[in-house]
Amino acid sequence: MREWTKEERYRELKSPDELKDLFEETKKSIYRQHYHIQPVTGLLNDPNGFIWHDNVWHLFFQWFPFGAVHGLKHWYHVTSPDLINWKKEGACVYPDTEFDNKGAYSGSALPKDGDIYMYYTGNHRDEDWTRIPYTCVSRLNKDGSAEKFDKPLFGPSPDYTDNQRDPKIVYDEKTSKYYIFLGAETKDNHGRVIVYESEEQNCGWRFKGELKVEGYEDFGNMWECPSIERIGDKDVLIFCPQHLKIKGRGNTVHHNGYLIGEMDYETLTFWHDGEFHVLDFGFDSYAAECAANIQDKNRAILVAWMGLPDASYPTDEDNWSGCLTLPRELTIRGRRLVQKPLPELKLLREEEVDVSEGVLPIACELDIKIAEGFEKEDWNMSLLGGLSINYDSINGEITIDRSGMKKRFNIELGESRSRILENGLKSLRVFIDASSAEIFVNDGEAVFTTRVFPTEDEHGFKCSSDSTKIRIWKLKRSYPEEFVI
Ligand code: FRU
Repeated sequence: MREWTKEERYRELKSPDELKDLFEETKKSIYRQHYHIQPVTGLLNDPNGFIWHDNVWHLFFQWFPFGAVHGLKHWYHVTSPDLINWKKEGACVYPDTEFDNKGAYSGSALPKDGDIYMYYTGNHRDEDWTRIPYTCVSRLNKDGSAEKFDKPLFGPSPDYTDNQRDPKIVYDEKTSKYYIFLGAETKDNHGRVIVYESEEQNCGWRFKGELKVEGYEDFGNMWECPSIERIGDKDVLIFCPQHLKIKGRGNTVHHNGYLIGEMDYETLTFWHDGEFHVLDFGFDSYAAECAANIQDKNRAILVAWMGLPDASYPTDEDNWSGCLTLPRELTIRGRRLVQKPLPELKLLREEEVDVSEGVLPIACELDIKIAEGFEKEDWNMSLLGGLSINYDSINGEITIDRSGMKKRFNIELGESRSRILENGLKSLRVFIDASSAEIFVNDGEAVFTTRVFPTEDEHGFKCSSDSTKIRIWKLKRSYPEEFVI
């Protein structure tokens, strides 16, 4: 297959010059993030192909270059030595073949013989608009370009709807086989994971069957972005069931959650302990991706899209949308996943600021400790004017409410989210950027992720308790505003 140049790839849509103009406009938006991964132009959604390889972290994400809409998706590539400082490498997998003519959709990555291979869904549409999802593979060249295999690894299974996508590739040492987990949907619209297997990483793939997840046969439609992770001595099945209402989650029908258990590749069963938990108790978090085969197998790291499908955001008016969450470290405590900010995040601290001023820098971290003995008292803090964090001692519940912000959005999905805390409120770490807040409660017991769009006069904070110890750091910019396509 002939390789296209970047210029050729873009000619049919817009020229790189037009994209440069769009970037110059985008840069003016007051909501551009300082240390979160965001699109150079256009729209970002799912993180893809997160992997540690040759001493570098590689991360890709779904990218539509030309505006804040879910158009033709590319994979955009960024790299980092430390998960904090990121370098833009540019677009990598383009929707430029017959198999992915309507988008290079989400997937994962795995190395082989010194190279990274990216597994993604080629979203194909025929002339009559029939959709055919292909599982495709592309190799990352040392110069950052990608070389697609001439043919997909396999096409769709005839027994499911055309919702079959988001390959997660893993290698299982016990069976000495590779497996691809694919999100799918039965013909009567129940979400499933289907599994393919092969002895070889890049050929010989065959359909193995449907993953048995007892009790979850009727649990939403299509399960997007499935993932299987080994954390400690447990397996964790992560997925996003579509169009499902969950108690306490407002009107949102898109969730990203997990089951903890044991994966049995022989019988294709995920033995689990029963409960589906959401990964994040906040508003804007979806399509989480865990880093594959990292140097330290005991360290699991997750990153997610800080956004939701079918939702709109105030930056749509500025022609761009979406960013990723901070990477988080995962462990299992009891029957729950615990997500903590990475220790490396301390590298972001530029200077400590004077708390008595009551003003937050645009990009900052708050480290909050509730005075000993006050863990079960009522407590309240307001950030950025109208984002409130409230601990209610009667119900033992923490609530994040964004309805007080001047710029409200996605109101119909509900503007507050709550969570019962097991032993009161002890500490918070809050990471604020120009248009987001990530609130880690009690050293990872719960995390609330939310986009927020403060106006220029919404940068104050107030706390109801004088005895709460608060330290605040201004954080530096670690994601450059450079034009790289
Ligand atoms: C999830 C998702 C995936 C799909 C991708 C397309 O947000 O819908 O299922 O591969 O986004 O961008």
